[in-house]
Amino acid sequence: MNWQTFKSSDALSDHAAHLFLTAIQSNPRIVLGLPTGRTPIGMYERVVRECRREYRCFRDVVTFNLDEYAGVPREHPGSYWTYMQQHLFAHVDVDTHNIHIPDGTAADLAAECVRYEAAIREAVGLELTFLGVGRNGHIGFNEPGTPFDARTRVVELTPSTRAANAEFFPNGEVPTHAVTMGIGTILESREIVLLAAGAGKHEAIERLRSGAIDESFPASALWKHANVTVLAQEPS
Ligand code: GLP
Repeated sequence: MNWQTFKSSDALSDHAAHLFLTAIQSNPRIVLGLPTGRTPIGMYERVVRECRREYRCFRDVVTFNLDEYAGVPREHPGSYWTYMQQHLFAHVDVDTHNIHIPDGTAADLAAECVRYEAAIREAVGLELTFLGVGRNGHIGFNEPGTPFDARTRVVELTPSTRAANAEFFPNGEVPTHAVTMGIGTILESREIVLLAAGAGKHEAIERLRSGAIDESFPASALWKHANVTVLAQEPS
């Protein structure tokens, strides 16, 4: 695992955006795994800014988001579909056919999970996946206790994860479930970059850095992967 630490979240976002832009430039048909949350916003901002300054082509880039809330329509301001439109897709020339986000409103969510896994496989698999990390170590919505070979599936969100995301559902209707790529799905990505910054992440960063691999801490599964870079903000 390659560790890089940054004094500020701005410096971390600069570097994450650099990795993102370099990747799509060197492989314009790259298949990306993409995260949501507060942490990657700075990376997306910089990617969009750079694409405006100097044209970068997203036309053949293929994206698969890590997760989506169950039962939340895509137009809902709290959905990850809305998040991705706001922070990236509406501002670049990505082909909408190349965007994949689990459909949390599918009538048959189990079938939706199978479809999502198949779509990743058909796209030749994830080549570069960016991840955030929850304070409890979750990646995507794989909460503590998730088996490391789990595939895309419906999960129940823990009270702490629901509390952490409550501000995006001001009416109080914080979703209870989500569809998430599994840890096994994520580990099949050829390369992984984990972004860890912001309030309350220090403990998670230290636990990951310790190298102890344990299903009670989902991000520790990344130690089983040969090509992971962690971009971590130093505690202030
Ligand atoms: C959510 C997302 C995760 C993300 C996590 C951390 O739970 N499903 O993919 O990594 O939040 O978010 P933040 O960056 O806001 O701390």
